[in-house]
Amino acid sequence: MNEAEKSKMLVGTEAAKYVKDGMKVGLGSGSTAYWMVKALGERVQQGLDIIGVPTSAQTEKWAQEFGVPTTDLSEVSALDITIDGADEVDQNLQLIKGGGGALLREKMVAIAADKLLIIVDQSKVVDHLGEYPLPIEVVPFGWNLTAKRIAALGYEPTIRLSGDTHYITDNGNIILDCKFGKITQPAKLHEQLIQLVGVVETGLFINMTDTVIVGNQGGINVLEKK
Ligand code: 5RP
Repeated sequence: MNEAEKSKMLVGTEAAKYVKDGMKVGLGSGSTAYWMVKALGERVQQGLDIIGVPTSAQTEKWAQEFGVPTTDLSEVSALDITIDGADEVDQNLQLIKGGGGALLREKMVAIAADKLLIIVDQSKVVDHLGEYPLPIEVVPFGWNLTAKRIAALGYEPTIRLSGDTHYITDNGNIILDCKFGKITQPAKLHEQLIQLVGVVETGLFINMTDTVIVGNQGGINVLEKK
């Protein structure tokens, strides 16, 4: 296992320790969240009683594989904690997410939780968001016009592909990955984009994160909301 993977395993395993008996847990998506679901599965085998709400079809499969019981978001009134990865984390714990295409469900599950715990390796921690292209979920109907409206704001949308065809999210939508350069006002940018008809959700997670566990050269560093 390479260093990056070891770091993901470390933060995923550490995050699983935040989960207590009886909790309802949002299960994030991506290769870091994989290790958290695996570690939770091990704790469930040892008797931990929890129910998970997966944020993607892939995470649902992992939960089944590792024996974490799951339910749908509609079946719970609230969640105790959501644990998820991220593509970028800035100094104010604002995030870019959606690299794995699960941003809409991830955001719905994040805001349903009392606590949002993010797990990343050091490479994801940045001074300013925007180096990573911002994923925006868009309805397929007329997507080209929506992309033009985003471009008219001065950005560069690229439709995400899966092989030769458009990548389709678990919700049947497409993703536009948008190069913004340095994002100095993430909340304002989100407000601008979400108002465009055809945009379903943006990958900007603003003022949602409580704690970030950062994997760093074999150790961890914990960042808390100020
Ligand atoms: C999926 C996400 C992921 O959390 C994000 O892309 C990080 O993934 P990874 O842990 O594989 O780097 O937002 O939509």
